[in-house]
Amino acid sequence: MHVTLDMPAAAPRYYQTFHPDTHSVRDELEGGLCRRDASIAPKFLYDALGSCLFGAITQVPEYYPTRTEQQIMARYADEIAQRTSQARVLVDLGAGDCVKAERLFGRLRPRQYVPVDISTEYLRGAVARLHTAYPDLDIVALGQDFSQTLALPDDVGTEGRLFFYPGSSIGNWAPEQALAMLARIRAACMDDGSGLLIGVDRVKSPDVLVPAYDDALQVTAAFNRNLLLHVNRLLRTDFALDDWRHLACFNAEASRMEMHLVATRAVTVNWPGRCRIFASGESIHTECSYKYQPQDFAALLDAAGFSDVAHWTDPEGWFSVFHARA
Ligand SMILES: C[S@@+](CC[C@H](N)C(=O)[O-])C[C@H]1O[C@@H](n2cnc3c(N)ncnc32)[C@H](O)[C@@H]1O
Repeated sequence: MHVTLDMPAAAPRYYQTFHPDTHSVRDELEGGLCRRDASIAPKFLYDALGSCLFGAITQVPEYYPTRTEQQIMARYADEIAQRTSQARVLVDLGAGDCVKAERLFGRLRPRQYVPVDISTEYLRGAVARLHTAYPDLDIVALGQDFSQTLALPDDVGTEGRLFFYPGSSIGNWAPEQALAMLARIRAACMDDGSGLLIGVDRVKSPDVLVPAYDDALQVTAAFNRNLLLHVNRLLRTDFALDDWRHLACFNAEASRMEMHLVATRAVTVNWPGRCRIFASGESIHTECSYKYQPQDFAALLDAAGFSDVAHWTDPEGWFSVFHARA
């Protein structure tokens, strides 16, 4: 049964389906570490400290995506508000500190706000702050890993769902995985008044891209290396920070930025029941960030079943914001 959204808002409700201390999380980490080309999924960058460090990254001068997206959203606020006027429920995918969604509250006036994030402790803090600032807003918070499924509980309103997926987080997936994620979002749009507002980073010079992922203050390096501390807790590995350095590079052929952790010497990493030997210079791939041409991303939206796509960009064409209807 679905609750009516005209009821006075109660305290935020939390639904936590992601639990880091499980066999499946350990299996996923172990599988990635034991592969010949070792990798750890970027979602593991986000424990509570990782989320704080990401917030700091958005403030460094080299990291253009956040401020460019914000400039686009501010410049085209009227058009965006007009196109999203049927929005009643704001579903914030990868909500982080919820600040970007909060900027939409004034014009959008959602009846319900649904932040979704894998960084559950950080999400709880962000939601507590929001509830104090907006005591009348109905908040349903989901501690969820949406990489496989996007499951909204029954007390999320079905009319006028606006999915908000900013920050070019969609770029963390390869295009075929991104298409699957967009299709999951499309499937969760239950009526014609629903849609998706999404930020997408664009192909540009490596002279701009690489510093954005390797800033002079080394905040991004700390963010990347913190993943090892997170994995030490989750899998009981014995990664030592001094053995690993941050590397960011542009893979032009795949149109993506990559982050790696590179072993500074020969290292054996141990955890209960197993170990993995890394040669000096061998790396663990920790993040991809695919960069799109606007027409290619519009085609992905179309393939996922969205229609009537609107597109806004900044004067330099560095970043794109799309709205697509269900
Ligand atoms: C690049 S940050 C963006 C944060 C914020 N939306 C912004 O644009 O500044 C990505 C966010 O998505 C969350 N996230 C990453 N992978 C996720 C997953 N598989 N399921 C749920 N949340 C995820 C992270 O915890 C983080 O808060």
